[in-house]
Amino acid sequence: MHTQEFTTHSQEETIALGRRLAASLAPPKLVVLRGELGAGKTTLIKGIAEGFRAASEEDVTSPTFTLVHEYRGPEVVVYHIDLYRVDTARELETLGIDDLISENSVLLIEWGEKFARFARERDVEIALERLGENDRRIKVESR
Ligand SMILES: Nc1ncnc2c1ncn2[C@@H]1O[C@H](COP(=O)(O)OP(=O)(O)O)[C@@H](O)[C@H]1O
Ligand SMILES: [Mg+2]
Repeated sequence: MHTQEFTTHSQEETIALGRRLAASLAPPKLVVLRGELGAGKTTLIKGIAEGFRAASEEDVTSPTFTLVHEYRGPEVVVYHIDLYRVDTARELETLGIDDLISENSVLLIEWGEKFARFARERDVEIALERLGENDRRIKVESR
């Protein structure tokens, strides 16, 4: 178990951190992002997707209605998944997440901790905490 801790002071700093984190998220990876609404999960993912050259930050938006967004980079496919509105194993099943796991994919799952299987299967957990208006603590734990 390896933990790193960061504090950011703006949205831009969180995106920049995400870009750097991509280097340590070589596929295949399943990453769970946890933290309350507004903690900065989606913001961090903007940077991670950019780090993989899979999307630009403005292309990465909250997957509220479709629940799964796919961003294809030259080497890595980034899947951005938001389970905030998913409550049952049956609803989860319809998303077909198992089919997304492959040698060159990185799954970034907001609210993944709601389901025990992702707590078990995750390679990395990123916990974001709002310390103030613009300050966030970001802990990255990999196994
Ligand atoms: N240091 C920071 N890091 C990330 N977001 C920040 C920061 N400071 C302020 N914010 C704001 O907090 C909000 C985070 O929203 P979002 O990334 O969608 O959160 P989540 O996906 O966790 O619900 C955005 O409005 C962003 O501009
Ligand atoms: Mg979000």
